Amino acid sequence: MTTVIDGKQVAASVIEAVKSATQALEADAGVRPGLAVVIVGNDPASHAYVSSKSKMAKECGFQSVQHTLPEDTSQDDLAALVAKLNADASIHGILVQLPLPKPLNSEPIIQSILPEKDVDGLHVVNAGKLATGDLEGGLVSCTPAGAMVFVRQTHGEDLSGLNAVVIGRSNLFGKPMAALLLAANATVTTAHSRTKDLPAVCRNADILVAAVGRPEMVKADWVKAGATVIDVGINRVSAPEKGEGKSKLVGDVAFGEVEKVAGVITPVPGGVGPMTIAMLMANTVIAAYRKAG
Ligand code: GUN
Repeated sequence: MTTVIDGKQVAASVIEAVKSATQALEADAGVRPGLAVVIVGNDPASHAYVSSKSKMAKECGFQSVQHTLPEDTSQDDLAALVAKLNADASIHGILVQLPLPKPLNSEPIIQSILPEKDVDGLHVVNAGKLATGDLEGGLVSCTPAGAMVFVRQTHGEDLSGLNAVVIGRSNLFGKPMAALLLAANATVTTAHSRTKDLPAVCRNADILVAAVGRPEMVKADWVKAGATVIDVGINRVSAPEKGEGKSKLVGDVAFGEVEKVAGVITPVPGGVGPMTIAMLMANTVIAAYRKAG
């Protein structure tokens, strides 16, 4: 029997823990976690993600601040906003939604966020801590941290002897995911667009994590029987079966066929997605605790 992970349910339990921690921090230290989310431009998908993040922050009892900047915002104006948020003691977490519209350059902006406020885990200090196995001292990128919760609940803390394959090598997901799996003793392969015979590499995986942004790319014959399959893709595709002009979300995994082979699988939507937001809230409350000493 294949287990389909209910990401909403797991995320809800993380959110409950965040709410309790928030109440305790306020009661004990008089500190309310503050999360600032910055969005530039008009991308509808980014606006949808950001409003869910801001809404969840409020629900957790945080001070939730959203900065919505126009498409033609200059690099200097965006940098100035980050500097202001860095200096604001009531803000413990800063998230700049990616991708930024052209011609803005995201890298200097991300690296200008104070590492202790970098709740996306993208600053080189946080990425470096993770890469060197310091899992407690920094902040870990939210989507891989969320995916790891599913891996841990399936396989436990120690992945010794298990082969893990991560498809995708982005700084936001693939690299930190591989680092987390490695830190848990898995034997890790990072596959990507230049990998030779990707299906054969994937068939070797006890834990297969797909983050490529290609709708339903991973097929049933890419998957070892009984494997744990974590789908990080969120792809909007047309869905004529729902009516003319309608669309739907699908992952990077062909769920209908892979479900029959996998031991454990995450759906899209309702798998990794809700965990990303939950782990963002967890990172923010962690940042606030550290600041409160
Ligand atoms: N765009 C898509 N996912 C993310 C994320 O986790 N963080 C940021 N900052 N931007 C994103």
